[in-house]
Amino acid sequence: MSNKLIVNTDITEGKINKNIYGHFAEHLGRGIYEGLWVGEDSSIPNIKGIRKDVLDALKKLNIPVLRWPGGCFADEYHWKDGVGPREQRKRMVNTHWGGVVENNHFGTHEFMLLCDLLETEPYICGNVGSGSVQEMSEWVEYMTFDGESPMANWRKENGKEDPWKLTYFGVGNENWGCGGNMRPEYYADLYRRYQTYVRNYGDNQIYRIAGGANVDDFHWTEVLMREAHHLMDGLSLHYYVHPGGFENKGQAVDFSEEEWDITMQKTMYMEELIRKHGTIMDKYDPEKRIGMIIDEWGAWYDVEPGTNPGFLYQQNTIRDAVVAGVHFNIFHDHCDRVQMANIAQMVNVIQAMILTEGDKMILTPTYHVFELYKVHQNAEKLSLNVRTDTIIENDQTYPTVSATASKAQDGTINISLCNLDKDARTPVDIDLRGIEVKEISGRILTANEMNAKNTFEQPENVVPEKFTSYSQEGNTLQVELPSKSVLVLTIK
Ligand code: AHR
Repeated sequence: MSNKLIVNTDITEGKINKNIYGHFAEHLGRGIYEGLWVGEDSSIPNIKGIRKDVLDALKKLNIPVLRWPGGCFADEYHWKDGVGPREQRKRMVNTHWGGVVENNHFGTHEFMLLCDLLETEPYICGNVGSGSVQEMSEWVEYMTFDGESPMANWRKENGKEDPWKLTYFGVGNENWGCGGNMRPEYYADLYRRYQTYVRNYGDNQIYRIAGGANVDDFHWTEVLMREAHHLMDGLSLHYYVHPGGFENKGQAVDFSEEEWDITMQKTMYMEELIRKHGTIMDKYDPEKRIGMIIDEWGAWYDVEPGTNPGFLYQQNTIRDAVVAGVHFNIFHDHCDRVQMANIAQMVNVIQAMILTEGDKMILTPTYHVFELYKVHQNAEKLSLNVRTDTIIENDQTYPTVSATASKAQDGTINISLCNLDKDARTPVDIDLRGIEVKEISGRILTANEMNAKNTFEQPENVVPEKFTSYSQEGNTLQVELPSKSVLVLTIK
């Protein structure tokens, strides 16, 4: 069989919410401290404590939304410890992640500054597991109330006269696990209670996100939707790809061909999860008012040998680039329900965009996929028919080609294709319907080895290149997709 794509450029299927390209930064390992925050006195160039090289690189991704402060950390974070003069802030133990001392130097003001500098929307995750309703309520008041109130006054004393705009607020994280080990019935009631006091002050309208299911816990989704759908704007879902399972996840770089196959099959599983959780959501919300918020996703492997097991520092290869591209294609396919996704995590943690070592920084293959795919943000998804071969290897089954297409506001068509085949070049015929093709350009990310990566010694080993391996006849393109690649074609 051959691989073929029919792109119906005049049939749109809904907007791809730019928030699908969201990120997540937790107080975990070297994600915040060292990765994003070095402090004002650091010799590493910074803007008010936020490292400049990382900031400049992240800006190029047009990051729409950033989730913080966790993760598991969110349900043991007490925001009041992280405001006011830094040297007076309480020090705490980060019990989830390495038992290290958290000095609270990166708190609400620093996070909001980071968001301002990135021109990104903040998404704050509140503490249900070990925090009170009052604490959560006062955090929202502190951040968003414009007037005379204890919290607003305190914010002003701490140097911020005007409130911030805050749209996205999560009511706890993984409340079935690190966020309190709750049953869904119990959490649903807590959600109803806590969210009541997450107030809209003035014209600041909060989009309330309920803590959702782990992977295939469809019962959790059923109960949350049944008991609280009328009180939520979003419901989260977490799913990570770990080829060896949660306990022995597998290595990020020295992996076998079989692990490649397992990784691809497990990546495709995201589609089934969205479909099945979505079907339950449809039952209570047929209009699809409630967004599915996939606020943790990515490929999670064993930590790099010799690094702190609690820091979740892993390398990143062309395999991860393909994983990221395929996830985006799946999210686009469900853009009527998936309204946000946040990769875990931004810097130095799990499937990161950026790795740092002292004052050095490298961009990962995953970074480059976010950069290539940003053309799809807020674009109209196009109707697409994909016929693809299937790879069956090492007892794993997955498609050779994964694709998506969208139309930007200026009419430009962008088609993204991933070749999941680690060995073979794959020819793909693309039939473009409803358009007169005038101009084509392409950029591709690929590598010779399936575990190719960027290092501090060779930072440009895996970088996007101009793509010219196609021929055109009218509205038909014959594309030669290199093995293990992510391609974005732009058509005008
Ligand atoms: O991203 C790492 C951790 O994974 C998060 O803290 C938690 O929510 C999830 O289990």
